[in-house]
Amino acid sequence: MSVETIKWVKGAARIIDQTKLPHKFEYIYCRDVKTMWQAIKRLSVRGAPAIGVAAAFGVVLGVQKFKGRDKTRFLKLFNATCEFLGTSRPTAVDLFNRLSEMRAVVDLNPQAGVPALKKALQLRAMSIFQADRRVCRQMGGHGVKLIKNGMRCLTICNAGALATVDYGTAQGVFYAARAKGKKFSVYACETRPLLQGARLTCWELMAQKIDTTLICDNMAASLMASSKVDIIFTGADRIASNGDAANKIGTYMLAVLARHHGIPFYVVAPGSSFDLKIKSGRQIPIEERKSDEVTCFAGVSTAPRGVKVYNPAFDVTPAKLITGIVTEYGIIRPPYAKNIHARFANR
Ligand code: MRU
Repeated sequence: MSVETIKWVKGAARIIDQTKLPHKFEYIYCRDVKTMWQAIKRLSVRGAPAIGVAAAFGVVLGVQKFKGRDKTRFLKLFNATCEFLGTSRPTAVDLFNRLSEMRAVVDLNPQAGVPALKKALQLRAMSIFQADRRVCRQMGGHGVKLIKNGMRCLTICNAGALATVDYGTAQGVFYAARAKGKKFSVYACETRPLLQGARLTCWELMAQKIDTTLICDNMAASLMASSKVDIIFTGADRIASNGDAANKIGTYMLAVLARHHGIPFYVVAPGSSFDLKIKSGRQIPIEERKSDEVTCFAGVSTAPRGVKVYNPAFDVTPAKLITGIVTEYGIIRPPYAKNIHARFANR
């Protein structure tokens, strides 16, 4: 893959501005934590794993200009930076898991002075970046076994290179299948209201010369009823310890339909997207976004002024509708509470 969604370049975090795709390719150079916070908030960088890496780089940006050796002042700035980044988006747990990893650097080095901590935080952020590249390819390696020649796959939102550092989770499975020379095709749900499927997934898949067909979200049922879908792959923003999985709004609808039509439904997500502190999906905070995302289409108003709007960005698919969860460690199958615990017990 040649898409570099997020990268550390000469003291700045360089991100692709995903709000401009597919028609304009522009970078944003985040040189301070506020710019990174805004980039996450307005979805210039998005997708759970990419948000996690952005948060780690955001911490580095927040402390890198600190002058002097006063550790108390440094820790005050560090803690405020982590808290600030944690307010950018609530659902993707990668953001909070990666911030915890950054906090652990400080907590586990109580004797370290300011220069050593700054260095250690930079190294940790780079290792989070590298780990994302590695685990996405590992997930692709496991997921590829599920794709047989001739299969018609369905996906929603963007769980590709643009949602990670450079490869993807659910879409990474497609890239791994393509690399193995498998013949398959993909239906991409457009993913209203912000069209991550139409704008981002189609852009990525077409660049990789994968046979891609765009559908409106409300076409999925009729597609399945006419036996045109063999398997479904989605990403996840937060997976509870019982296997309930939050992902882009519309995912639950696909899982219900898949069960009705006897189609396997797989979630592809790395360890950083699991929240083992919560028992079920009922505890997952769901982001609600601004009403104009729904009342407007491509900047043009499509609804009467003043209409009430409900705009949750995510929904939760109950574990019982999920055939398997593809992780970097392999595919986790039901019963999820037991098998997720067994997989991550030593984490
Ligand atoms: O609001 P977004 O675009 O950040 O939502 C992204 C998704 O829901 C993705 O499917 C999810 O983060 C998994 S991406 C690997």
